[in-house]
Amino acid sequence: MKALVLAGGKGTRLRPLTHTSAKQLVPVANKPVLYYGLEALRDAGITSVGIITGDTGQEVREAVGDGSRFGLEVEYIPQEAPLGLAHCVLIAREFLGDEPFVMYLGDNFLVGGIRDLVESYQAAGHDAQILLTRVAEPQFYGVAELGPSGEIVGLEEKPEHPRSDLAIVGVYIFSPAIHEAVRAISPSARGELEITDAIGWLIERGHHVHSHLVSGYWKDTGRLQDMLECNRIVLEQVEPEVHGTVDGLSEITGRVVVERGAVVENSVLRGPIVVGANAKIVSSYIGPFTSIGPDCVVADAEIEYSIVLDGSSVVGVSRIGHSLIGRNVEVSGTTGAPNTHQLMVGDHSKIKVQA
Ligand code: DAU
Repeated sequence: MKALVLAGGKGTRLRPLTHTSAKQLVPVANKPVLYYGLEALRDAGITSVGIITGDTGQEVREAVGDGSRFGLEVEYIPQEAPLGLAHCVLIAREFLGDEPFVMYLGDNFLVGGIRDLVESYQAAGHDAQILLTRVAEPQFYGVAELGPSGEIVGLEEKPEHPRSDLAIVGVYIFSPAIHEAVRAISPSARGELEITDAIGWLIERGHHVHSHLVSGYWKDTGRLQDMLECNRIVLEQVEPEVHGTVDGLSEITGRVVVERGAVVENSVLRGPIVVGANAKIVSSYIGPFTSIGPDCVVADAEIEYSIVLDGSSVVGVSRIGHSLIGRNVEVSGTTGAPNTHQLMVGDHSKIKVQA
């Protein structure tokens, strides 16, 4: 079985980070979201992976390469514009050939892998298998309505008035029947060829689409709060390890990873936390569920429940929480009058300061 991984698209909800980089490469516990998906595919016994790329294709290629370090053989399939999930299947026709495949959305995060799902699909041989999960805000997802015996009776993409709270998870398994479906449908009101419509097309024509309810942890990492939640879940499972240097004045509790070359001085670290390679933490407090990226500096500062990307500095600031800080960002405190917040932030940034 092959896999099609979708790593193009716009990523508007994680701006401004996604102005300059791929949303699938935003790190969770200092590892890009996309890597977790690739590892899940490998662990399910898949080796041949096609990756759909868009404007950020170069960055995705640099991050994943030929896939060999994941134990995969990766091919890239550039998409001219984000014309929809079903459009991705359309342009991957040649790569996919005439065998079933897993379609994995590169910004989705599923705890527990997909091995069981692939095995159950192979045993049953449905025309398609989709995963559903209960969510609090179904209007942001594809939504399924189930009949009395669990059969899918309706599918809608981001409905204004959802008929259920069952969201479609971004991991699908398709038989080659999907190719006819993606050719047959028309673009939706938002101008995309929706995979939800293609699956609906299969159901209408009597193909067997199996749905499986997942109760484990799943997130679409497209939004800030989801990224932070994902980071929390992964950090809760890290094995504490100190490869860097921690001085005698520092206090470390809980699951804390200090990567190679990182230095911790006179600081309090309450895990779970990851401190990236060559980062420097001085006279600071790092609270639970925080990932500090490689080459960051945190000095005379307090930060918790946050993700800080590579090369950024947080100096003389108390206290940062619920935040996602991009690459090479400088956050620093000022003293003296006037008591102002000085900002120089990119387009589409979001800042919340204490009033
Ligand atoms: O996350 C689950 C949801 O994913 C499902 O519930 C929805 O039914 C499904 O349509 C999809 O909705 P999103 O709005 O979250 O899709 P998004 O535009 O974020 O795209 C998902 C991934 O596919 C993302 O990694 C970007 C990539 N993509 C997207 C489009 C539209 C492409 O590579 N090419 C595209 O044309």
